[in-house]
Amino acid sequence: MHWLTISFALAFGLLTAASPATGTKRAICTPFAEGWEMIDDSIAINKAIVDCGNGGTIVLPADQIYSIRSQLDFTPCKNCDFQLEGQFLISRDEWTYWNSVGSIIKVAGVNGAKIRSLTGKGFIDGNAIDYYYRERWQFIAPAGPHFLHVTNGSSNILVDNLTIKNVPMRFFRADGNSTKLTYSRLSLSVIEQWGGAPSSESETFGFEMGDVSNVVIDTVSMNFLARGPKRGGPPGGGIGVCAAFDKGTNGVTVKNILCQKSWGGVGVMVGTSSQSALYENDGRPNTPQVSNGRGVSNIHVSNLTFDGGWATGYMNMLELEPERISNITWDGVTVLGGDAAVGDRCYLRCHCQTGHYAQCAKSDWKVAFENIRFENFKGAIGSRPGAGWGCATNQTLCDIQFNGWTSNTT
Ligand SMILES: *[C@@H]1O[C@H](CO)[C@@H](O)[C@H](O)[C@H]1NC(C)=O
Ligand SMILES: *[C@@H]1O[C@H](CO)[C@@H](O)[C@H](O)[C@H]1NC(C)=O
Ligand SMILES: *[C@@H]1O[C@H](CO)[C@@H](O)[C@H](O)[C@H]1NC(C)=O
Ligand SMILES: *[C@@H]1O[C@H](CO)[C@@H](O)[C@H](O)[C@H]1NC(C)=O
Ligand SMILES: *[C@@H]1O[C@H](CO)[C@@H](O)[C@H](O)[C@H]1NC(C)=O
Ligand SMILES: *[C@@H]1O[C@H](CO)[C@@H](O)[C@H](O)[C@H]1NC(C)=O
Repeated sequence: MHWLTISFALAFGLLTAASPATGTKRAICTPFAEGWEMIDDSIAINKAIVDCGNGGTIVLPADQIYSIRSQLDFTPCKNCDFQLEGQFLISRDEWTYWNSVGSIIKVAGVNGAKIRSLTGKGFIDGNAIDYYYRERWQFIAPAGPHFLHVTNGSSNILVDNLTIKNVPMRFFRADGNSTKLTYSRLSLSVIEQWGGAPSSESETFGFEMGDVSNVVIDTVSMNFLARGPKRGGPPGGGIGVCAAFDKGTNGVTVKNILCQKSWGGVGVMVGTSSQSALYENDGRPNTPQVSNGRGVSNIHVSNLTFDGGWATGYMNMLELEPERISNITWDGVTVLGGDAAVGDRCYLRCHCQTGHYAQCAKSDWKVAFENIRFENFKGAIGSRPGAGWGCATNQTLCDIQFNGWTSNTT
């Protein structure tokens, strides 16, 4: 039976390979799964990306479960349409390998890729529960592969209508001056993560980006319920951050987001995503630093529903450069639980430097906050923060305003 499947796959593969694109018709490749967890289906999928990625379509049918044991590389893709209707099962016994390649899916220097499900059945099991259970050290910022890394000036990338669970570290990482990125209709979840502040609050990220422009994140539900504080403990608080914007992020629309159980919601996190002197032990490979001095600008967040640690605001680890944070608006936020907004200029993700707060407080006034708006918040938001919220006494520029707050808790 199994051999029949394989020979059918081979025959089909040959057929599609033998029918090149004619006229306006797109080439179609349909790689099939071998059907064994220990056999790597990435090889066939990568071959399909090579064969049909240049303007063609790669279809992964609904009845197939693909074992992903090596990196999926979209580099050959030019306006390709990758349709995952079946399932991916990421290998769980190869964390050293995954860390060494830096991401499970690499989209580097690609112009035009759709990674999506037409039926909505496309499903990815990151299979990382044993990774979550690994030994952790409080003073080392978490390393780990990105699930899908868009980098090296990629553009026109769409990720749509997929359900993804239990990836090792970050769902979506984008950097390297990539632009025109859309992430829509996604359902992201982790279970069995554990821990809490300070050692593992950022173990999971829905979206983490810097040095990107023109990004849309639309209709995404995230649930990062953790077991904590101990491995295997009872389901406790949440873990991770739904969406974090670091330096060099300019132009993001975030809307229709349900963010549940995470430590952080949708916020600006300067200096938290790159390797730096403060992250010597990060151990994260192939992650370009995000640049200094480009600030974070033009981010509009609307229709966010949050239940977790903190819903909005900023967590900044000051590095050497004073950054400008401008034109950030959260408009239409419903808080079911947690802090409505946080403003911490001296947050240090790895908690690895004793005395950081004292050091930071000497220069945190150099950050400029221009046109920061928290508007139309409702739910469990407490009282509206007063003037001066989030600013040092002599902040260079501190234009932060709260308008239209309707609390049901005061
Ligand atoms: C990005 O491009 C550079 C230069 O072409 C290359 O060395 C590097 O490996 C690329 N990065 C990735 C993640 O592909
Ligand atoms: C994916 O698309 C299908 C068909 O359009 C839709 O029914 C389904 O709800 C979508 N799934 C998600 C997660 O948006
Ligand atoms: C991104 O663009 C900036 C400004 O043009 C440049 O300084 C930086 O080196 C670029 N980064 C990458 C990774 O290409
Ligand atoms: C707000 O987002 C939720 C998804 O979290 C969606 O169901 C709802 O329709 C959106 N509301 C509006 C007014 O768009
Ligand atoms: C902030 O918005 C204003 C008004 O739209 C615009 O003039 C300014 O260039 C924006 N700032 C940045 C850094 O893009
Ligand atoms: C702002 O206050 C800090 C101490 O809180 C001080 O070190 C710094 O020089 C002050 N900056 C200005 C411009 O006064």
